[in-house]
Amino acid sequence: MASDKNASTKIDTILTVAGRDPGNNHGVVNPPVYHASTIIFPTLADQEKASHDPLNHITYGRSGTPTQHALEEVMSQLEGAHRTVAVPSGLAAITGAMMPFVSAGDHMLISDSAYGPTRRFALNILKRFGVETTFFDPLMGEEIERLVQPNTKLFYVEAPGSLTFEMQDIPALSKVAHKHGAVVVADNTWATPVYCQPIKLGADIVVHAGTKYVVGHSDAMMGLICCNSETTYAAVKNTCSMLGFHAAPDDSYLALRGLRTLAVRLRRHEQSALEIARWLKTRPEVAKVLHPALPDCPGHEIWKRDFTGSSGLFAFILKDGYSKPAIAAMVDHMKLFGIGYSWGGYESLMIHAHPEVFRTAMPWPTEKTVIRVHIGLDDVGDIKADLAAGFERMAKANQTASAAE
Ligand SMILES: Cc1ncc(COP(=O)(O)O)c(C=O)c1O
Repeated sequence: MASDKNASTKIDTILTVAGRDPGNNHGVVNPPVYHASTIIFPTLADQEKASHDPLNHITYGRSGTPTQHALEEVMSQLEGAHRTVAVPSGLAAITGAMMPFVSAGDHMLISDSAYGPTRRFALNILKRFGVETTFFDPLMGEEIERLVQPNTKLFYVEAPGSLTFEMQDIPALSKVAHKHGAVVVADNTWATPVYCQPIKLGADIVVHAGTKYVVGHSDAMMGLICCNSETTYAAVKNTCSMLGFHAAPDDSYLALRGLRTLAVRLRRHEQSALEIARWLKTRPEVAKVLHPALPDCPGHEIWKRDFTGSSGLFAFILKDGYSKPAIAAMVDHMKLFGIGYSWGGYESLMIHAHPEVFRTAMPWPTEKTVIRVHIGLDDVGDIKADLAAGFERMAKANQTASAAE
């Protein structure tokens, strides 16, 4: 069986069928790991043919191996993309997607809720090379037009933002971007193509921290840049080649293997996260739950219109009055939640987030305690019990501190 591009357009079937090629791999179901640097060409003519068309030939390990190409093929089918470029991390996907489209003297618009290192790259590296950035209110739709300058070349969205979970209106923003000749880059790590396909909503490029749900097991770093046309693909692939970005064969294999179970994992993450989010809304310690699938969350209507589901990552804001030691009493002693920055693996995670450090267009109140959680594949009753015990520890530590005052 060779991978059939047209076997189905259904996500679950693409996830199980695409990228496989047992006919060329001794019947082996999963594409094997090809480790390579040097590629040997049979003849001078073959070498020259490959060097004249590097986007369609394997010329050197850095240009990609069949393992990487299998992963790229699956991602392209899932995202409805023309072609995909796999790179070493999610951040490399972000930088590799921005660099081809901006030059000295250009301007970019980035959602104020974007992932911190995305902002840092714009403000530290691209700024030094003469590219200016304006951050925009994530919830602004077509009004973004008033921020567009004659030199605006790129709009960057991350829907929802991975700390504060505000949605963005990708169709409205894309309409304005295209009117002014700018490209739209969308970070789709949270929803994955199982629940959102930004190219269908108007984006030109979709980036993924494959490190999260694609790999799904917290054991590899991966970035994916899905491009909507041969033009954007050539621009991205050539830039990534010049930067030396290369997805390692073993990590490509792990990402490809992770993809096979993405939809089933994600549905479980979604179900458990929604149950926990709704339960958190009933807790006396919680002021607000930030989850786009909840009707009172900013941008919920956009989520309902453009997404078919939600994932396991969301946040909640504690009511005022809990001291730092009280918060630590909860976070430090969770049984199932690790304290960790990443997410998208099978495990539950918790982090005291500080969105106020990043925000500029729409400042975030510094005094609010934001706890971001990733709801893993553990039993949801156990997760709830772990959180309930954490709240009890927090309340007890607060009472002890006030009694001592
Ligand atoms: C939304 C989002 N995009 C991109 C990245 C970067 O991914 P990586 O850690 O693989 O570089 C992250 C990492 O946390 C993220 O949360």
